Amino acid sequence: MELTHRPRRLRTTPVLRAMVAETSVEPRQLVLPVFVADGIDEPRPIGSMPGVVQHTLDSLRATAAAAAEAGLAGVMLFGVPKPEDKDPTGSQALAEDGILNRAIAAVRAEVGDTTLVMSDVCLDEFTDHGHCGVLTTMATGAVVVDNDATVELYAEMARAHAAAGVHLVAPSGMMDGQVGAIRAALDADGAQDVAILAYAAKFASSFYGPFREAVASSLQGDRRAYQQDGGNVREALREVALDVEQGADLVMVKPALPYLDVIARVRDLVDVPVAAYNISGEYAMVEAAAAHGWIDREAAISETLTSIRRAGADVVLTYWALEWALGREQGRGRRAGGR
Ligand code: PBG
Repeated sequence: MELTHRPRRLRTTPVLRAMVAETSVEPRQLVLPVFVADGIDEPRPIGSMPGVVQHTLDSLRATAAAAAEAGLAGVMLFGVPKPEDKDPTGSQALAEDGILNRAIAAVRAEVGDTTLVMSDVCLDEFTDHGHCGVLTTMATGAVVVDNDATVELYAEMARAHAAAGVHLVAPSGMMDGQVGAIRAALDADGAQDVAILAYAAKFASSFYGPFREAVASSLQGDRRAYQQDGGNVREALREVALDVEQGADLVMVKPALPYLDVIARVRDLVDVPVAAYNISGEYAMVEAAAAHGWIDREAAISETLTSIRRAGADVVLTYWALEWALGREQGRGRRAGGR
């Protein structure tokens, strides 16, 4: 055939394909979510997230150091209190010796500024009912999460995290006004430099399932009265705009894979950096299929992370962050050695 255009020409060798690659996934753009549990002596595997554990403070420090060494953007810390320490108001979230506050201090002491220490600002890990805030009973008898009372607790939590040395706080409870209240509280403490990564568009999702096991939460009911409905993209854009208005330094879309279109729309809408969270169920899905030999694990991970970056996420939170960064180093070594 006499063809002027043969797009296949640019796909002939690995180096040529690499030269024209439009999307890359760099360790500096990745954040590793990590769980740290109170009162355990050994890291404890999480059944529904093969390869992910609840850390002890020691293993957490070591993992954070490895993340820094591998050039990751940061680690996102989630605290898991002892079951008997969970209560209706999540009081361990505020206690100075609460597991998350201790973990932030320990990790910051370990890594300094070599990687970012980030923290989840939410109460579901700490409450005995598993909701993201404190409950109140309406006149109708309905039990709901009290928005304004919860926001006050988030502001206190953020102050405690800042005092412990966090670089970025990430409010994830989808309460109205949470970003503004946290910004004001941090500023009042002189913590102007602590940034806010806002879970701005967070959808009520079945893919959070394995996370419940990771933080030992037995949620009663569901979160549909505060997390968003999966079909609503305009509403997501409104949430994002409100968070930027209230001082969010970065905005996040979560989950990532079922909401790639939302990531793309948000990227177009705002000029702050956009993050996306490749969550527990997205991780579990690939790991489970790979364990059965139904898909090529490494290729699926690469395709997953590439798709989230291609959709427009500047930053990706993923449980594969460390593996990805280490694998890339090895890949480079192999290529260099082969010449
Ligand atoms: C709230 C929070 C959740 C996740 C991150 N922050 C759980 C939820 O809202 O139900 C989920 C992360 C994941 O599933 O990997 N503390």
